[in-house]
Amino acid sequence: MVHINENYLKLKAGYLFPEIARRVTAFTETNPTAQVIKLGIGDVTEPLPPAIVAAMHEAVDEMANAPTFHGYGPEQGYAFLRNPIAEHDYQNRGVNVSADEIFVSDGSKCDTGNILDILGTDNRIAITDPVYPVYVDTNVMAGHTGDADENGRYAGLVYLPVTEENGFVPELPDEPVDIIYLCYPNNPTGTVATKETLQKWVDYARANGSLIMFDAAYEAFISDDSIPRSIYEIEGAREVAIEFRSFSKNVGFTGVRCAFTVVPKDLKVKASCETDVSLHQLWNRRQSTKFNGASFIVQKGAAAAYSPDGQQQKKQLIDFYMTNARLLKEGLEAVGITVYGGENAPYVWLRTPNNLSSWDFFDLLLNKGHLVGTPGSGFGGAGEGYFRLSAFNSRENVEAAIERFKAAID
Ligand code: MLT
Repeated sequence: MVHINENYLKLKAGYLFPEIARRVTAFTETNPTAQVIKLGIGDVTEPLPPAIVAAMHEAVDEMANAPTFHGYGPEQGYAFLRNPIAEHDYQNRGVNVSADEIFVSDGSKCDTGNILDILGTDNRIAITDPVYPVYVDTNVMAGHTGDADENGRYAGLVYLPVTEENGFVPELPDEPVDIIYLCYPNNPTGTVATKETLQKWVDYARANGSLIMFDAAYEAFISDDSIPRSIYEIEGAREVAIEFRSFSKNVGFTGVRCAFTVVPKDLKVKASCETDVSLHQLWNRRQSTKFNGASFIVQKGAAAAYSPDGQQQKKQLIDFYMTNARLLKEGLEAVGITVYGGENAPYVWLRTPNNLSSWDFFDLLLNKGHLVGTPGSGFGGAGEGYFRLSAFNSRENVEAAIERFKAAID
């Protein structure tokens, strides 16, 4: 008899984005002529930067010739990518991360889930509420929680509300926690964490022997120089934090797939026999066993993002999406909507008008405006009454979306 992983049975309904897709499909089936604009999932729309396209073409040509062909690559990623990441994303900014602490992968979503392989099952886990649902669901799947209650909150997780009242910055937990997920710039609220905020969390982690999972997938969208882009800008973070980064949003790789995770060598955790264990070594062991590395062609493309042309084109892409974010924010504020985020992140987080529930507002926008966003409650109970719009779309669609939004709430 086959036994399944019964933890999957604890999961609530569908994962948020497939659930949205299901509702949109149902709508378009009954309204086949409707031109739906999607500002729901944060999926990029603009083509790859030319420097990256050229590098990937070249890489394909290398693969087409026996003398330059590549088979399996290093599981941790090629040096031609790990070196520029270390240099440009960290060392040039005065941050101590070396190339061999960087593990290249095919995505941050995968990495934030896979990292649980090297952690035990008895950790007390803290997440913000609202939160990127992957952190919760992967812990449910791994059996780190009990069942969900009627509000969708899982027994065993510590929920840290991020609300207007606390400026979307979670308070330190009032019970001890072992693992803390932080995502800044934040998905879904589009807000940022200051150096002082992050220092508070690093200090907490050091004092309590906790581990911070820092998701920095949106760091490239920070324009305010006082806001940290990496947790390792914070003193002591190398001893307590793992950082996840991605090429998905900054150079348009959602369909190409490339990301990386930094596991510093200073990060040690005590095993039950009291021996210090290096998480870097455990992750290396895990990746070498279960992963054969990201594709050579893809890594060549990612490396081109650090060339002079690549950097300039990346900046243009980010400016393009951040102009969308500004237009969305200003357009919504002009009709009296309360809006957060959208200044150092490609998401705007708005209060639903007339106290509508998040899903009621989703249905209203879809039916009246043929416009798709993401219900705040899909990110957690504290997201109820909020709604997220993504700035990843063409200018034309963003401008049309603002007009449709205004008409739908009129
Ligand atoms: C989102 O919309 O929250 C993101 O696109 C999801 C992701 O990056 O996996």
